[in-house]
Amino acid sequence: MKYKLPRGTQDILPEESRKWQYIEAKAHDLCQRYNYKEIRTPIFEQTDLFARGVGDTTDIVQKEMYTFDDRGGRSLTLRPEGTASTVRSFVENKMHGWADQPTKLYYIGPMFRYERPQSGRMRQFVQFGVEAMGSADPAIDAEVIGLAMDFYSELGLKNLKLIINSLGDKESRRNHKEALINHFKPRINEFCKDCQTRLEKNPLRILDCKVDRNHELMLDAPAILEYLNEDSVTYFEQVKTFLKDMNISYEVDASLVRGLDYYNNTAFEIMIDGDGFGAITTLSGGGRYNGLVEEIGGPATPGIGFALSIERLLMALETQGIELPLEDGLDAYLVTMGDKAKTAAPKLLHQLRHEGLKVDADYLAKKVKGQMKAADRQQAKVVLIIGDEELATNSVMLKSMATGEQELVSITDITDKIKNYKSE
Ligand code: HAM
Repeated sequence: MKYKLPRGTQDILPEESRKWQYIEAKAHDLCQRYNYKEIRTPIFEQTDLFARGVGDTTDIVQKEMYTFDDRGGRSLTLRPEGTASTVRSFVENKMHGWADQPTKLYYIGPMFRYERPQSGRMRQFVQFGVEAMGSADPAIDAEVIGLAMDFYSELGLKNLKLIINSLGDKESRRNHKEALINHFKPRINEFCKDCQTRLEKNPLRILDCKVDRNHELMLDAPAILEYLNEDSVTYFEQVKTFLKDMNISYEVDASLVRGLDYYNNTAFEIMIDGDGFGAITTLSGGGRYNGLVEEIGGPATPGIGFALSIERLLMALETQGIELPLEDGLDAYLVTMGDKAKTAAPKLLHQLRHEGLKVDADYLAKKVKGQMKAADRQQAKVVLIIGDEELATNSVMLKSMATGEQELVSITDITDKIKNYKSE
């Protein structure tokens, strides 16, 4: 075979894409209940949007972006995540001026990161994410977390673990940054090159460095929670209270820093607890980003959101042996006997499909036996048999695949009859 899938990507074949459709429908439905509206942004954006938005000291921007020059010499990047694009659109379309605030948006679409592929880590993956912009009420932090948890639990996932932390407001972060610099500076030459440049620019990033994660200075690095000012502490307490009110259990993990630069105050990840899930146990992540809209050129606007990948969700469902309640099979399969019947088939199929039924027929000139087999494989509820006799009387022989019972049904009644079988 000459051509192969690019590394870290996948074909989603029909058996799998049924699951995707089910999950996506669930996401649309849930977002309607929470009153989030869908936004679709381009798959590529100006490179600078991500450098600014996601942060130029992050692994995503430094190592993982698919960046290219277009024929006009513009640097473009395949989006590595959805928040920066959503915020860009929020600013560009002046959504802050819309009557209903906060602006509550969601998206489902492919994202691209040049990562080392492994189970649960792809180079193209699909995120479902939500962003709420325009409110600094801790209740909306709890709403976003609640939506994420509901999504998983409504699909049947168990053993979910919600980890939360606060990264504090500007002042708290400034104090924490200073403490981190003092902590790492004396021995920074023992750290990787990336960490050395991170030290002055963004020492928080050192804390999620994959290379130096076992260095002893990591163990007693100053935790942000100790540097939160009063406002940040109060905010965090309020979020936690709302979560308790909503019966959502959580664990506070002071070492949760997230891999993107835009976060402040609330940060969270949802993990799957339990064996057999592989190395990657994080299902989704999100948090508050109060400075991002401004950073991207809009008016100061608070925001919060999260994103999850459908690939990891599917892995989790599989590991837990959860079958999605997918609708299987055709409503009817048309079996023709003889040339006349074959000629009459397209019209009948067309009519039944117009009536909203899922029907199919043979296009390979199979014998009746072969057609019946196909009906069985496609899990048709009934077969509709037409031959010369049926044609002459404007009727079809309807056979139930479950019981084998047959009855002659007039063409005018056929749709209702099939619908009866369908609802049985
Ligand atoms: P993130 O933590 O980078 O956050 O990604 C969110 C989720 O996307 C991860 O928890 C994981 O489910 C999935 N994901 C990330 N990378 C991969 C990959 N290589 N393969 C498969 N799945 C992956 C963000 O992207 C933020 N934009 C989330 C957010 C929205 N924060 C606020 N609003």
